Amino acid sequence: MRSFMGRDILSLKDFERNEFFHVLEVAEELEPIARQRRNADMLAEKTLVTAFYQPSTRTRLAHEAAMHRLGGHVTGFSDAKMTRAGDFYQESIKDTVKMLEFYGDVIVMRHFQQGAPHEAAKWASVPILNGGDGWGEHPTQILTDLYTVYREKGHIDGLKWLAVGDMRMRTMHSLGYALTQFDCPVTFVSPPEMSLTDEFKAELKQYSLDFKVADHVEEAIADADVILVEPVVQPDYTKSRDERSGDVGLTPANYKITRDLLFHKAKSDAILLHSLPRMDEIPPDVDITKWSRYWQEAFNGVVMRMALLALVLGAME
Ligand code: CP
Repeated sequence: MRSFMGRDILSLKDFERNEFFHVLEVAEELEPIARQRRNADMLAEKTLVTAFYQPSTRTRLAHEAAMHRLGGHVTGFSDAKMTRAGDFYQESIKDTVKMLEFYGDVIVMRHFQQGAPHEAAKWASVPILNGGDGWGEHPTQILTDLYTVYREKGHIDGLKWLAVGDMRMRTMHSLGYALTQFDCPVTFVSPPEMSLTDEFKAELKQYSLDFKVADHVEEAIADADVILVEPVVQPDYTKSRDERSGDVGLTPANYKITRDLLFHKAKSDAILLHSLPRMDEIPPDVDITKWSRYWQEAFNGVVMRMALLALVLGAME
């Protein structure tokens, strides 16, 4: 297996099956630190730089929390408008990263341009973690989802997935790539205008992913062991910030997971994931049901980032 030390985490397309399992096992090993709410000293000599060109609640703060849990330091920005990248100068990724690499030992970047973290990785002498790039990918989120499944079910192979939402989403791309490395048939359900692109479908076929497409969650939910949901009422992920203006509409029933649907159609032991934030695709009354796992994902998101930081910084082999 390739070493993770010094490695960029940009895409799950380049993750091998044994590397997924290794990351999951390292996360499991580090989990007690977070569970006991301790701060260890594993990364006491290291600093994380956060470079967020788009809003985030979970991704930025989970990386920061993970760094604190391992005794490391954090610096960075959560609003590029307050940097030279977001003012008159429109400073380039290259020029920005050529500074940031000396302010810390690893950089987590979220950007509205697809491929921006890859561009950063070309210039940085320190590892770059992709915290979400436009409609591109969101590898650390899907690793969090996989870790949640691994902890809840004890295994990943053999589970049937249902993925509902906007298939242009970066999470859906990382999910598709990740599932190619497991024995996990998946059904995708999305509005026609948000469906899998032909190019992405061709890629998934090339990797022999067992997938199909359905029009309505009712057609697919009964078979699913894992139900992963994203909104179909979405902002534009290519913008640095997309403010809500006026009525944004409601989620059609085809893409909505209700309590009634779960009760009447879902497997009793299926688990329901959502990367959050949500709109109305999972109503709040689903939160207190045996299916929901999205709050557990908040904890698991910290644990997964602890594993990734420890690995790329060489604190864990
Ligand atoms: N899941 C996720 O990426 O959330 P944030 O946008 O809040 O980081």
